[in-house]
Amino acid sequence: MSKFEFSNKNEKKFQELLTRYPNKMSLTLPSLWMIQYQEGWISQDAMIYLAKKLETTPIDIHSIASFYTMFNLKPIGIHHIQVCKTLSCKLCGSEKIRSHLKNRLGINFGETTKDMKFTLSEVECLGACGEAPAMSLNDDYIGNLSIKKIDKILDEL
Ligand code: FES
Repeated sequence: MSKFEFSNKNEKKFQELLTRYPNKMSLTLPSLWMIQYQEGWISQDAMIYLAKKLETTPIDIHSIASFYTMFNLKPIGIHHIQVCKTLSCKLCGSEKIRSHLKNRLGINFGETTKDMKFTLSEVECLGACGEAPAMSLNDDYIGNLSIKKIDKILDEL
């Protein structure tokens, strides 16, 4: 039996979405977002739970969740830093920013600090090219990055 279940708020939202979507499978992405916002990541238990609700298989849910890089399939730190690795940011010096973040946090991309405080990820264009180099910190975008700016942000967390 799955250990995961939607919170009351998410169950209510799920039931409401059911009335607006053409079929249960079309609720996969919104449901995955609800799970991620509830737990911070999407566990196997949560995928089994969702598969049952959507009347599909856990492997179908896994194949969708693993296709999108924005879904976390393992626990992440309190502060999730996602640094852009795409061209505009590269041209504006993101390599220095990326190296500095790895050194400062003592982890590589795709890793979480032992104290579960930080997770560092590299991602494709964040759509903030006008402020390159850019990153996101949880749900906030931060642009015009410099090493000084990174240090200030990390010092304040
Ligand atoms: S290339 Fe980095 S935000 Fe677009």
